[in-house]
Amino acid sequence: MAQERILTVDDDQGLLQLLKMRLTAMGFDVTACASGEAAIDVAKREVFDLAITDLRLPDRDGLAVLEELLLIHPSLPVLLLTAHGSIPNAVEAMQKGAYGYLTKPFDDKELKIVIEKALAQQRMSREIERLRSLVKELYGLENVVARSPAMQVLLQQVAHVADTDATACISGETGTGKEVIARVIHCNSRRGRGPFVAVNCGAIPESLFESELFGHVKGAFTGAHYAKRGLLQSADGGTLFLDEIGEMPLALQVKLLRALQEHEVVEVGAERPTKIDVRIITSTNRDLEQAVRAGTFREDLYYRIQVVPLVVPPLRERRDDIPPLAQHFLKQIAGRMHKNIRGFLPEAMQQLMLHHWPGNVRELENAIEKAVVLSTQDMITADLLPAGSQPAEDQVKPLTEAREDFEREYLKEVLQLAGGNISRAAQIAGRYRADLYKLLRKHGLHPGDAKEEKDAPPV
Ligand SMILES: Nc1ncnc2c1ncn2[C@@H]1O[C@H](COP(=O)(O)OP(=O)(O)OP(=O)(O)O)[C@@H](O)[C@H]1O
Ligand SMILES: [Mg+2]
Repeated sequence: MAQERILTVDDDQGLLQLLKMRLTAMGFDVTACASGEAAIDVAKREVFDLAITDLRLPDRDGLAVLEELLLIHPSLPVLLLTAHGSIPNAVEAMQKGAYGYLTKPFDDKELKIVIEKALAQQRMSREIERLRSLVKELYGLENVVARSPAMQVLLQQVAHVADTDATACISGETGTGKEVIARVIHCNSRRGRGPFVAVNCGAIPESLFESELFGHVKGAFTGAHYAKRGLLQSADGGTLFLDEIGEMPLALQVKLLRALQEHEVVEVGAERPTKIDVRIITSTNRDLEQAVRAGTFREDLYYRIQVVPLVVPPLRERRDDIPPLAQHFLKQIAGRMHKNIRGFLPEAMQQLMLHHWPGNVRELENAIEKAVVLSTQDMITADLLPAGSQPAEDQVKPLTEAREDFEREYLKEVLQLAGGNISRAAQIAGRYRADLYKLLRKHGLHPGDAKEEKDAPPV
C-alpha cells in the first residue's frame, strides 16, 4: 500500500516539527504547514488521507480552515488539536464536520490510536465508494447494450420509472435481461445507494417462504432460536426484486399486498408491524393474467404490482442488438480468459444473426463463452458457434410473400446476367418484353441498376 499522506497545520513551530517527526516515525508521509493559508493552498493542489490542524491559528480561525478543507475534499477526515479548556470550540468543530479532536498535550499512543481509526474509516469509505462506482458502471444505463429501437424505447421507460418510486413489473422470456433492467432501475433511482436484494420466488420452499420474506421473532416456531430479519427488511431503503413473482404461494400474496399498501411488515410471531421503506420490482416469465384467471394469482396483487408494466422483447425480435451484444460479451469474456480475440468473421456474425435464440441474451452469452474457450485464432469463426437453429414459426413467411421475394431476387439475377439489356433478359426468362417490364415495375427494379453495377469498376 502506498504511504498515507497527512497534512499538519500549527503555528507553533516546535510542536509542528515534533508532530512531523512522530508521524514520520509511524510511517506516514507528512506535509507540515505553519499557517492556515499555506495549508489550504497545498490542499488545493494535493490529495491527503488525513489533516491535523490546530484550532487556534494566527492568520485564521481553525474552524474556518476546517470548513475550507472540507469544501475542497468533503470526505477528508480532519483532526483538531485543542488547548486544554477549549472544549466548547471542539464541540462546534465536530458539528462542522471534524473527525475528532485531541487535547494538548497528548502522547504518542493517543495520537496513534486516533489517527489509525480515522484512516481505517477513510479506507473503508473509499472502498465502499469504489464498489459503488463499480456497480454503477456495470448497471449504468450506458452499459446496457440497447441498439434496437425496441430496447431504446424500453430504456426510456426505465429512465422514467427510475425517477419514481412506483412498483414496476418486468415481463419477458427467459434470459432476456429482466434482472439487468431491475438493477438499472435501482441503480439509477434515488435508492441507488441503498441495498438491492434479489430473490427468486420459485427457489424458496413454500414452508420457509413467509419467514424468509417477512422475518421472524425469536421463538416464533420450533427451531426459531434467534430472531431473523426478512428479505423485505434487508432491502429497507433500497429495492427488493421479486423474481418469478408468479411462483409465490397464494397465502403469502395477501401478506405481500398488505406490506406494499401499508409500507410495513409483520414478522412471523410478532405482535406489531414494523415500518419499511422498500421499492418492489417484480418479474415474471409467465402470463400473470392467465394465472389470475386460473385463480393461482390474486387479482388485487396483480393490479398492485402492474403499476408500471415493462416488457423486455425476446432477442429474435431485436436482431439489431445481436452484433453489439456479441461484441460486448466477447470483450468481457476474452478479457476474463486472457485471450486475444479481436472479433467475429463475417460468416460467424451472420450465423449469430440467423440463429433463433430461444434462450435469448443468456444463450448468446453462453454461446460466445463456448466459442472463446474453443477459439485458437484471433477471430471467432462460424464453426465455433451454434448452427442456425430450426426457424421458428414466426420466421416462415406465407407462401405469397415468399414467392414475391423469390421473384424479385430472380429478376435481379436475370438483369445482372443480361447486363441490363431488356430484350436479352426477356429471352433468358422466357417472357415477352412487355411482361418483363411489368414485373420489374412491380418490384421497383430498373434495368439501369444492373447496367451500372456491371459497368462499375472493380473495387
Ligand atoms: N441488454 C443487455 N446488455 C448486456 N448484457 C445483458 C443485456 N441483457 C441481458 N444481459 C446479460 O444476459 C444474462 C441474462 O440476463 P438476466 O439474468 O437479466 O435475464 P432474465 O430475464 O432475468 O433471465 P431469467 O428469466 O432466466 O431469470 C445476464 O448475464 C446479463 O448480464
Ligand atoms: Mg432473472
